[in-house]
Amino acid sequence: MQQTLEPLITSAWRDAWDKGDLNALDGLVADGYTRISKATGATVDITGLKAEIAAVREAFPDLRTTIDNIVEGDGTVAVFWTSTGTHIHEYLGVPATGLTVQTRGSNILVLKDGKITKETVTWDGSELLAALGIRPLRGTATPEVGDSGESPELHADLMKAFNRQFITGVTVVTTKEGETPKGLAANSYCSVSIEPPLVLICVQKTSSTYPALFSSSHLGINILGTGQRETVRVFASKAPDKFAELEWHEGPNGSPLLDGSAASLEAEIQERFQAKTHTVFICRVRHAEIDDSAPMVYKAGRFYDGGNLAEL
Ligand SMILES: Cc1cc2nc3c(=O)[nH]c(=O)nc-3n(C[C@H](O)[C@H](O)[C@H](O)COP(=O)(O)O)c2cc1C
Repeated sequence: MQQTLEPLITSAWRDAWDKGDLNALDGLVADGYTRISKATGATVDITGLKAEIAAVREAFPDLRTTIDNIVEGDGTVAVFWTSTGTHIHEYLGVPATGLTVQTRGSNILVLKDGKITKETVTWDGSELLAALGIRPLRGTATPEVGDSGESPELHADLMKAFNRQFITGVTVVTTKEGETPKGLAANSYCSVSIEPPLVLICVQKTSSTYPALFSSSHLGINILGTGQRETVRVFASKAPDKFAELEWHEGPNGSPLLDGSAASLEAEIQERFQAKTHTVFICRVRHAEIDDSAPMVYKAGRFYDGGNLAEL
């Protein structure tokens, strides 16, 4: 290894990771460069590396990296590094926490003619989040749930037509952001098992309720009754205070439960699976309240009286 490579690596590394000059690495890597993650097994080329750097820098814009040590071998270089940054945008599916984090890693560079041909990275983004007490979303490793592989994509209209044939109830999923109650209308509720009492709900990541749900330990699920047509409208909207006109109370762990619902439960969030645009929350029910009133029925964009169904 040439003595001259160490300052080159240090400055290119800082320029790329800390200053966002993604082309700073170009002069260091050979044609056919590959970067392998020990944590996920993912392999990327220089373009993929630049995309990874851009994603990290977007999430942690004040990123600062210290090269702790560079150990030179015969045709290889080991780089030990420490980075700190403030988590202000989504990373690995985790909405911004505002927390400043520190993480360490080591990279083994294989050199040919003074350039890097292969880089093996020992660093695990999910460990970083775990150190913060944040469980990352399942499904962040490749392939993600919902990756289509080689199969042709089903047309969206066909998928919608299929869903229109499926009858559901309507729920309002709730949580609290600090002391503020939050919630959205959702018909993706599904009972997973009775023993143990597991349920699931799918929430779109663009929902304004999503960041609060993501960081909550518990959530509420309210099955709406026939008298709550206006409640659906409000909770399917982006109204700033959806609870303003409502009577509600807290479950044992603080989740908002809507008065007048056909049934309400509070559940502990146990898993969060990443599925492209949505996150699937798997929850263990800890508390349930059942009312005699008839549930609302939803089919193909319309709402029906669940107390007035004709039995087959
Ligand atoms: C009947 C019905 C069912 C819905 N089901 C879901 C659902 O399962 N998951 C979801 O993320 N959004 C669902 N939505 C859409 C959300 O309620 C809607 O996007 C809402 O504006 C989100 O509010 P927020 O951004 O304030 O959280 C549904 C809407 C309706 C009317």
